[in-house]
Amino acid sequence: MSTPPTPVSREQVVEQLLASMQYEFARTGPPEGFPTLPLIPAGRYTDPAFLKLEAEGMWKRAWLYACHLDEIPQPGHFLQFTRLGSPLLIVHGKDGVIRAFYNTCRHRGAPLVKDLQGQVDGLVCQYHGWTYTLDGRLVNLRDKRDFNEMDLNCHGLATVRCERLGNFIFVNEAADAMPLLESLGHIPWYFEEVKPEQTRFVHKKSYRVKCNVKVLLDAFLEVYHLKSIHQQTVDRFLDHRGTTITLWPRGCSLMLTPNRRPDWEDPGTKGMPRVPGATALTAKNNPSFMFYPNLVTPIADSGIPFLLFWPCGDREMEIEVVWFSPDTGGEPLSPLWKARIDNFERILYEDTQFAEYIQQSVESAGFRGLTLNYQERRIYHWHEELDRRIGLERVPEHLRVTQLLAPFVSTNPVGTLPGADQG
Ligand code: FES
Ligand SMILES: [Fe+2]
Repeated sequence: MSTPPTPVSREQVVEQLLASMQYEFARTGPPEGFPTLPLIPAGRYTDPAFLKLEAEGMWKRAWLYACHLDEIPQPGHFLQFTRLGSPLLIVHGKDGVIRAFYNTCRHRGAPLVKDLQGQVDGLVCQYHGWTYTLDGRLVNLRDKRDFNEMDLNCHGLATVRCERLGNFIFVNEAADAMPLLESLGHIPWYFEEVKPEQTRFVHKKSYRVKCNVKVLLDAFLEVYHLKSIHQQTVDRFLDHRGTTITLWPRGCSLMLTPNRRPDWEDPGTKGMPRVPGATALTAKNNPSFMFYPNLVTPIADSGIPFLLFWPCGDREMEIEVVWFSPDTGGEPLSPLWKARIDNFERILYEDTQFAEYIQQSVESAGFRGLTLNYQERRIYHWHEELDRRIGLERVPEHLRVTQLLAPFVSTNPVGTLPGADQG
Protein backbone atom coordinates (compact mmCIF):
# COMPACT_ATOMS: atom_id res chain seq x y z
CA MET A 1 0.00 0.00 0.00
CA SER A 2 3.07 2.26 0.13
CA THR A 3 2.17 5.12 -2.21
CA PRO A 4 4.48 6.47 -3.42
CA PRO A 5 7.42 4.24 -2.48
CA THR A 6 9.43 5.87 0.22
CA PRO A 7 13.21 6.00 0.09
CA VAL A 8 13.70 5.69 3.86
CA SER A 9 12.70 3.27 6.59
CA ARG A 10 9.98 3.93 9.15
CA GLU A 11 12.60 4.17 11.91
CA GLN A 12 14.52 6.80 9.93
CA VAL A 13 11.38 8.84 9.34
CA VAL A 14 10.51 8.78 13.04
CA GLU A 15 14.07 9.75 13.90
CA GLN A 16 13.97 12.68 11.48
CA LEU A 17 10.63 13.89 12.79
CA LEU A 18 11.90 13.74 16.37
CA ALA A 19 14.95 15.76 15.26
CA SER A 20 12.58 18.33 13.71
CA MET A 21 10.81 18.59 17.06
CA GLN A 22 14.09 19.42 18.75
CA TYR A 23 14.68 22.08 16.12
CA GLU A 24 11.22 23.54 16.80
CA PHE A 25 11.82 23.63 20.55
CA ALA A 26 15.12 25.46 20.05
CA ARG A 27 14.29 27.98 17.33
CA THR A 28 13.97 31.67 18.19
CA GLY A 29 11.97 32.68 15.11
CA PRO A 30 10.59 31.20 11.90
CA PRO A 31 13.25 29.38 9.83
CA GLU A 32 15.27 31.52 7.50
CA GLY A 33 13.43 32.36 4.32
CA PHE A 34 9.98 31.60 5.69
CA PRO A 35 7.70 34.37 4.38
CA THR A 36 5.34 36.62 6.29
CA LEU A 37 2.00 35.14 5.35
CA PRO A 38 -0.37 37.62 3.68
CA LEU A 39 -3.84 38.10 5.23
CA ILE A 40 -6.45 35.51 4.25
CA PRO A 41 -9.34 37.61 2.89
CA ALA A 42 -12.51 37.42 5.00
CA GLY A 43 -14.62 37.06 1.84
CA ARG A 44 -13.37 33.50 1.50
CA TYR A 45 -15.63 32.72 4.50
CA THR A 46 -18.63 34.79 3.46
CA ASP A 47 -18.82 35.72 -0.22
CA PRO A 48 -21.57 33.64 -1.92
CA ALA A 49 -19.82 33.76 -5.32
CA PHE A 50 -16.56 32.50 -3.81
CA LEU A 51 -18.34 29.79 -1.82
CA LYS A 52 -20.05 28.64 -5.02
CA LEU A 53 -16.66 28.34 -6.72
CA GLU A 54 -15.41 26.42 -3.70
CA ALA A 55 -18.38 24.02 -3.79
CA GLU A 56 -18.11 23.31 -7.50
CA GLY A 57 -14.36 23.44 -7.99
CA MET A 58 -13.31 21.68 -4.82
CA TRP A 59 -15.96 19.90 -2.71
CA LYS A 60 -17.74 18.26 -5.64
CA ARG A 61 -14.44 16.96 -6.98
CA ALA A 62 -12.76 15.85 -3.74
CA TRP A 63 -12.22 12.47 -2.13
CA LEU A 64 -14.55 12.37 0.86
CA TYR A 65 -14.70 9.78 3.62
CA ALA A 66 -18.14 8.16 3.49
CA CYS A 67 -18.19 5.21 5.89
CA HIS A 68 -16.33 2.29 7.43
CA LEU A 69 -16.61 -1.28 6.16
CA ASP A 70 -18.14 -2.33 9.52
CA GLU A 71 -21.18 -0.18 8.66
CA ILE A 72 -21.85 -2.27 5.53
CA PRO A 73 -20.12 -5.56 6.42
CA GLN A 74 -22.17 -8.09 4.38
CA PRO A 75 -23.18 -8.40 0.72
CA GLY A 76 -26.40 -6.43 0.22
CA HIS A 77 -25.64 -3.90 2.94
CA PHE A 78 -26.04 -0.32 1.77
CA LEU A 79 -25.68 3.16 3.20
CA GLN A 80 -26.80 6.50 1.83
CA PHE A 81 -24.26 9.30 1.65
CA THR A 82 -25.80 12.71 1.05
CA ARG A 83 -23.40 15.03 2.86
CA LEU A 84 -22.76 17.22 -0.16
CA GLY A 85 -26.27 17.25 -1.59
CA SER A 86 -25.96 14.56 -4.26
CA PRO A 87 -27.90 11.42 -3.33
CA LEU A 88 -25.21 8.75 -3.23
CA LEU A 89 -25.57 5.12 -2.31
CA ILE A 90 -22.75 2.87 -1.16
CA VAL A 91 -23.37 -0.84 -1.69
CA HIS A 92 -21.55 -3.98 -0.61
CA GLY A 93 -21.77 -6.23 -3.68
CA LYS A 94 -22.29 -10.00 -3.79
CA ASP A 95 -18.70 -10.20 -5.09
CA GLY A 96 -17.43 -8.40 -1.98
CA VAL A 97 -16.67 -5.19 -3.90
CA ILE A 98 -17.84 -1.91 -2.37
CA ARG A 99 -19.39 0.36 -5.02
CA ALA A 100 -21.00 3.77 -5.04
CA PHE A 101 -23.90 4.87 -7.26
CA TYR A 102 -26.29 7.74 -7.48
CA ASN A 103 -29.41 6.62 -5.61
CA THR A 104 -31.24 7.68 -8.72
CA CYS A 105 -33.34 5.46 -10.93
CA ARG A 106 -32.57 5.63 -14.65
CA HIS A 107 -36.31 5.84 -15.37
CA ARG A 108 -37.31 9.14 -13.77
CA GLY A 109 -34.92 9.66 -10.90
CA ALA A 110 -36.77 8.18 -7.93
CA PRO A 111 -34.73 6.61 -5.10
CA LEU A 112 -33.79 2.95 -5.11
CA VAL A 113 -33.62 2.86 -1.32
CA LYS A 114 -35.32 5.16 1.17
CA ASP A 115 -33.74 3.91 4.40
CA LEU A 116 -30.44 5.51 5.31
CA GLN A 117 -28.90 2.11 5.89
CA GLY A 118 -30.01 -1.50 5.49
CA GLN A 119 -29.65 -4.77 3.62
CA VAL A 120 -31.28 -5.78 0.33
CA ASP A 121 -31.04 -8.55 -2.28
CA GLY A 122 -31.26 -6.17 -5.18
CA LEU A 123 -32.18 -2.54 -5.80
CA VAL A 124 -35.84 -2.08 -6.71
CA CYS A 125 -36.95 1.43 -7.56
CA GLN A 126 -39.57 2.74 -5.16
CA TYR A 127 -41.60 4.46 -7.92
CA HIS A 128 -42.33 2.03 -10.78
CA GLY A 129 -40.28 -0.98 -9.79
CA TRP A 130 -37.31 -0.99 -12.15
CA THR A 131 -34.91 -3.59 -10.73
CA TYR A 132 -31.12 -3.38 -10.55
CA THR A 133 -28.48 -5.79 -9.28
CA LEU A 134 -26.18 -4.81 -6.42
CA ASP A 135 -23.52 -4.01 -9.00
CA GLY A 136 -25.86 -1.55 -10.71
CA ARG A 137 -27.12 -3.48 -13.78
CA LEU A 138 -30.73 -2.95 -14.81
CA VAL A 139 -32.25 -6.44 -15.01
CA ASN A 140 -35.99 -5.97 -15.05
CA LEU A 141 -38.65 -3.42 -15.70
CA ARG A 142 -42.42 -3.47 -15.47
CA ASP A 143 -44.47 -3.45 -18.71
CA LYS A 144 -41.49 -3.95 -20.95
CA ARG A 145 -43.91 -4.01 -23.94
CA ASP A 146 -44.42 -0.29 -23.55
CA PHE A 147 -40.79 0.56 -24.30
CA ASN A 148 -39.55 0.43 -27.86
CA GLU A 149 -36.48 -1.82 -28.07
CA MET A 150 -35.12 -0.75 -24.74
CA ASP A 151 -31.53 -1.95 -24.20
CA LEU A 152 -31.29 -2.72 -20.48
CA ASN A 153 -27.48 -2.68 -20.72
CA CYS A 154 -27.56 1.04 -21.44
CA HIS A 155 -29.60 1.85 -18.35
CA GLY A 156 -27.45 0.72 -15.45
CA LEU A 157 -27.07 2.97 -12.42
CA ALA A 158 -24.69 5.91 -12.72
CA THR A 159 -21.54 5.04 -10.82
CA VAL A 160 -19.44 7.20 -8.51
CA ARG A 161 -15.75 6.65 -7.76
CA CYS A 162 -15.41 4.62 -4.58
CA GLU A 163 -12.00 3.60 -3.20
CA ARG A 164 -10.58 2.43 0.09
CA LEU A 165 -7.78 3.01 2.53
CA GLY A 166 -8.00 -0.24 4.49
CA ASN A 167 -11.54 -0.40 5.89
CA PHE A 168 -12.16 3.30 5.30
CA ILE A 169 -14.39 3.95 2.28
CA PHE A 170 -14.14 7.18 0.29
CA VAL A 171 -16.16 8.54 -2.62
CA ASN A 172 -15.49 11.14 -5.29
CA GLU A 173 -18.05 12.44 -7.78
CA ALA A 174 -15.35 13.46 -10.26
CA ALA A 175 -14.91 10.55 -12.67
CA ASP A 176 -11.45 11.81 -13.67
CA ALA A 177 -10.14 12.23 -10.10
CA MET A 178 -6.66 10.98 -9.23
CA PRO A 179 -6.86 7.61 -7.41
CA LEU A 180 -7.49 8.04 -3.67
CA LEU A 181 -4.23 6.54 -2.43
CA GLU A 182 -2.20 8.54 -4.93
CA SER A 183 -3.95 11.76 -3.96
CA LEU A 184 -3.11 11.13 -0.30
CA GLY A 185 0.61 10.92 -1.10
CA HIS A 186 2.54 9.69 1.95
CA ILE A 187 -0.45 9.41 4.29
CA PRO A 188 -1.29 5.75 3.45
CA TRP A 189 2.31 4.87 4.23
CA TYR A 190 2.01 6.49 7.66
CA PHE A 191 -1.35 4.81 8.18
CA GLU A 192 0.21 1.36 7.85
CA GLU A 193 1.31 2.07 11.41
CA VAL A 194 -2.30 1.74 12.63
CA LYS A 195 -3.22 -1.12 10.26
CA PRO A 196 -6.21 0.53 8.54
CA GLU A 197 -7.47 -2.80 7.19
CA GLN A 198 -7.89 -4.11 10.74
CA THR A 199 -9.70 -1.14 12.30
CA ARG A 200 -13.15 -1.53 13.84
CA PHE A 201 -15.95 1.01 13.80
CA VAL A 202 -16.88 2.19 17.31
CA HIS A 203 -19.13 5.26 17.29
CA LYS A 204 -20.11 8.39 15.38
CA LYS A 205 -21.85 11.63 16.25
CA SER A 206 -22.38 14.96 14.48
CA TYR A 207 -22.58 18.47 15.91
CA ARG A 208 -24.15 21.44 14.10
CA VAL A 209 -22.28 24.77 14.30
CA LYS A 210 -23.39 28.09 12.80
CA CYS A 211 -20.28 29.11 10.91
CA ASN A 212 -18.69 28.58 7.55
CA VAL A 213 -17.12 25.14 7.47
CA LYS A 214 -13.60 26.64 7.23
CA VAL A 215 -13.93 28.64 10.47
CA LEU A 216 -14.01 25.45 12.52
CA LEU A 217 -11.68 23.48 10.28
CA ASP A 218 -8.99 26.13 10.86
CA ALA A 219 -9.07 25.36 14.59
CA PHE A 220 -7.98 21.78 13.90
CA LEU A 221 -5.01 22.74 11.74
CA GLU A 222 -2.99 24.39 14.50
CA VAL A 223 -2.06 23.94 18.16
CA TYR A 224 -1.40 27.65 18.79
CA HIS A 225 -4.67 27.76 20.80
CA LEU A 226 -3.78 24.98 23.26
CA LYS A 227 -2.65 27.29 26.05
CA SER A 228 -5.83 29.38 25.92
CA ILE A 229 -8.78 27.09 25.34
CA HIS A 230 -7.43 23.66 26.28
CA GLN A 231 -5.59 24.61 29.49
CA GLN A 232 -7.32 21.92 31.53
CA THR A 233 -7.32 19.29 28.79
CA VAL A 234 -4.98 18.91 25.80
CA ASP A 235 -2.43 21.43 27.01
CA ARG A 236 -1.74 19.33 30.07
CA PHE A 237 -0.23 16.53 28.01
CA LEU A 238 0.86 18.11 24.70
CA ASP A 239 3.66 20.66 24.31
CA HIS A 240 2.82 22.82 21.29
CA ARG A 241 6.29 24.44 21.21
CA GLY A 242 7.80 21.26 19.77
CA THR A 243 5.19 20.81 17.08
CA THR A 244 6.65 19.92 13.71
CA ILE A 245 4.64 20.26 10.53
CA THR A 246 5.05 18.53 7.18
CA LEU A 247 3.23 20.08 4.25
CA TRP A 248 2.59 17.74 1.32
CA PRO A 249 1.26 18.24 -2.21
CA ARG A 250 -2.49 18.45 -2.82
CA GLY A 251 -3.18 20.16 0.52
CA CYS A 252 -2.38 17.16 2.72
CA SER A 253 -0.26 17.65 5.82
CA LEU A 254 0.96 16.25 9.11
CA MET A 255 1.17 18.11 12.42
CA LEU A 256 3.16 16.16 14.99
CA THR A 257 2.93 17.44 18.56
CA PRO A 258 5.08 15.93 21.31
CA ASN A 259 3.71 14.64 24.59
CA ARG A 260 4.95 16.76 27.50
CA ARG A 261 6.63 13.76 29.08
CA PRO A 262 7.95 10.82 27.09
CA ASP A 263 6.69 8.37 29.73
CA TRP A 264 3.17 9.87 29.76
CA GLU A 265 0.37 7.46 29.10
CA ASP A 266 -3.20 8.57 28.49
CA PRO A 267 -5.06 7.32 31.58
CA GLY A 268 -8.25 7.20 29.48
CA THR A 269 -6.80 4.50 27.23
CA LYS A 270 -5.06 2.36 29.84
CA GLY A 271 -5.91 -1.29 29.31
CA MET A 272 -7.31 -0.73 25.81
CA PRO A 273 -5.94 -2.91 23.00
CA ARG A 274 -3.03 -1.34 21.09
CA VAL A 275 -1.85 -1.78 17.54
CA PRO A 276 1.20 -4.02 17.85
CA GLY A 277 4.49 -2.57 16.66
CA ALA A 278 3.49 1.10 16.55
CA THR A 279 6.52 3.40 16.64
CA ALA A 280 7.18 6.37 18.92
CA LEU A 281 5.36 8.45 16.32
CA THR A 282 1.95 7.29 17.53
CA ALA A 283 2.83 5.79 20.90
CA LYS A 284 4.68 8.82 22.35
CA ASN A 285 3.42 11.76 20.30
CA ASN A 286 0.29 13.13 18.69
CA PRO A 287 0.41 12.93 14.88
CA SER A 288 -2.56 14.65 13.27
CA PHE A 289 -3.13 14.24 9.52
CA MET A 290 -5.07 16.43 7.13
CA PHE A 291 -6.69 14.40 4.36
CA TYR A 292 -7.58 17.27 2.07
CA PRO A 293 -10.13 18.78 2.22
CA ASN A 294 -12.15 17.86 5.30
CA LEU A 295 -10.74 14.99 7.33
CA VAL A 296 -8.50 15.63 10.33
CA THR A 297 -7.30 12.58 12.19
CA PRO A 298 -5.00 12.48 15.20
CA ILE A 299 -4.09 8.81 15.22
CA ALA A 300 -3.01 6.81 18.28
CA ASP A 301 -2.06 3.18 18.71
CA SER A 302 -5.13 2.78 20.96
CA GLY A 303 -7.70 4.24 18.54
CA ILE A 304 -8.41 6.71 15.77
CA PRO A 305 -10.88 9.57 15.66
CA PHE A 306 -11.92 10.91 12.25
CA LEU A 307 -13.00 14.54 12.51
CA LEU A 308 -15.01 15.40 9.42
CA PHE A 309 -16.00 18.93 8.48
CA TRP A 310 -19.14 19.17 6.35
CA PRO A 311 -20.54 22.37 4.85
CA CYS A 312 -24.33 22.74 5.32
CA GLY A 313 -24.82 25.94 3.39
CA ASP A 314 -22.57 28.99 3.49
CA ARG A 315 -22.89 29.77 7.21
CA GLU A 316 -23.62 26.43 8.77
CA MET A 317 -21.60 23.25 9.10
CA GLU A 318 -21.45 19.94 10.89
CA ILE A 319 -18.47 18.41 12.55
CA GLU A 320 -18.77 14.64 12.62
CA VAL A 321 -16.61 12.63 15.00
CA VAL A 322 -16.14 8.96 14.14
CA TRP A 323 -14.15 6.60 16.36
CA PHE A 324 -12.27 3.45 15.35
CA SER A 325 -10.59 0.87 17.50
CA PRO A 326 -7.66 -1.36 16.62
CA ASP A 327 -8.60 -4.95 15.83
CA THR A 328 -9.85 -6.63 19.01
CA GLY A 329 -9.53 -10.18 17.68
CA GLY A 330 -13.27 -10.70 17.98
CA GLU A 331 -13.42 -9.51 21.61
CA PRO A 332 -16.17 -7.01 22.47
CA LEU A 333 -15.11 -3.36 22.59
CA SER A 334 -13.63 -2.12 25.85
CA PRO A 335 -16.14 -0.48 28.24
CA LEU A 336 -13.59 2.35 28.55
CA TRP A 337 -14.71 3.68 25.17
CA LYS A 338 -17.68 5.54 26.65
CA ALA A 339 -15.52 7.66 28.95
CA ARG A 340 -13.01 8.25 26.17
CA ILE A 341 -15.69 9.49 23.76
CA ASP A 342 -17.25 11.71 26.46
CA ASN A 343 -13.85 13.17 27.27
CA PHE A 344 -13.23 13.99 23.65
CA GLU A 345 -16.62 15.66 23.44
CA ARG A 346 -15.56 18.00 26.26
CA ILE A 347 -12.47 18.98 24.22
CA LEU A 348 -14.63 19.45 21.16
CA TYR A 349 -16.83 21.96 22.98
CA GLU A 350 -13.69 23.89 23.88
CA ASP A 351 -12.80 24.01 20.18
CA THR A 352 -16.22 25.04 18.94
CA GLN A 353 -16.89 27.76 21.54
CA PHE A 354 -15.81 30.75 19.41
CA ALA A 355 -16.83 29.53 15.97
CA GLU A 356 -20.18 31.33 15.70
CA TYR A 357 -18.66 34.49 17.09
CA ILE A 358 -15.81 34.34 14.58
CA GLN A 359 -18.35 33.97 11.77
CA GLN A 360 -20.05 37.19 12.92
CA SER A 361 -16.63 38.85 13.03
CA VAL A 362 -15.63 37.85 9.52
CA GLU A 363 -18.99 39.17 8.29
CA SER A 364 -18.34 42.56 9.88
CA ALA A 365 -16.55 45.59 8.45
CA GLY A 366 -14.19 45.41 11.41
CA PHE A 367 -12.46 42.30 10.15
CA ARG A 368 -9.40 42.82 8.01
CA GLY A 369 -8.53 39.19 7.24
CA LEU A 370 -6.85 36.28 9.03
CA THR A 371 -3.34 37.07 10.28
CA LEU A 372 -1.43 33.78 10.33
CA ASN A 373 1.91 33.03 11.93
CA TYR A 374 4.51 30.38 11.12
CA GLN A 375 2.93 27.67 13.28
CA GLU A 376 -0.45 28.34 11.64
CA ARG A 377 0.95 27.70 8.16
CA ARG A 378 -1.22 24.61 7.59
CA ILE A 379 -4.21 26.95 7.34
CA TYR A 380 -2.48 28.96 4.63
CA HIS A 381 -1.43 25.74 2.86
CA TRP A 382 -5.08 24.59 2.92
CA HIS A 383 -6.24 27.84 1.33
CA GLU A 384 -3.54 27.78 -1.34
CA GLU A 385 -4.72 24.32 -2.37
CA LEU A 386 -8.31 25.52 -2.49
CA ASP A 387 -7.38 28.18 -5.07
CA ARG A 388 -5.42 25.64 -7.12
CA ARG A 389 -8.42 23.34 -7.21
CA ILE A 390 -10.82 26.11 -8.17
CA GLY A 391 -8.29 27.36 -10.74
CA LEU A 392 -6.16 30.38 -9.81
CA GLU A 393 -7.60 32.56 -12.56
CA ARG A 394 -11.18 31.82 -11.60
CA VAL A 395 -10.77 33.17 -8.05
CA PRO A 396 -11.56 36.91 -7.99
CA GLU A 397 -8.30 38.74 -7.41
CA HIS A 398 -9.33 40.39 -4.14
CA LEU A 399 -10.19 36.96 -2.68
CA ARG A 400 -7.15 35.05 -3.91
CA VAL A 401 -4.29 33.91 -1.66
CA THR A 402 -0.78 34.32 -3.02
CA GLN A 403 0.83 30.99 -3.85
CA LEU A 404 4.01 31.05 -1.80
CA LEU A 405 4.45 27.92 0.29
CA ALA A 406 5.69 25.70 -2.58
CA PRO A 407 9.32 25.80 -1.33
CA PHE A 408 8.07 24.44 2.02
CA VAL A 409 6.01 21.60 0.55
CA SER A 410 7.76 18.28 0.84
CA THR A 411 7.57 15.36 -1.57
CA ASN A 412 9.14 13.00 0.97
CA PRO A 413 7.52 11.64 4.16
CA VAL A 414 9.22 14.15 6.47
CA GLY A 415 9.27 17.92 6.19
CA THR A 416 11.62 20.50 4.76
CA LEU A 417 12.80 21.83 8.12
CA PRO A 418 16.39 22.13 9.18
CA GLY A 419 16.99 19.16 11.46
CA ALA A 420 15.02 16.85 9.17
CA ASP A 421 17.58 15.28 6.88
CA GLN A 422 15.85 14.85 3.54
CA GLY A 423 17.00 11.22 3.21
S1 FES B 1 -38.47 6.30 -11.40
FE1 FES B 1 -37.69 4.34 -11.02
S2 FES B 1 -39.02 3.00 -11.92
FE2 FES B 1 -39.82 4.95 -12.37
FE1 LIG C 1 -8.26 22.47 19.77
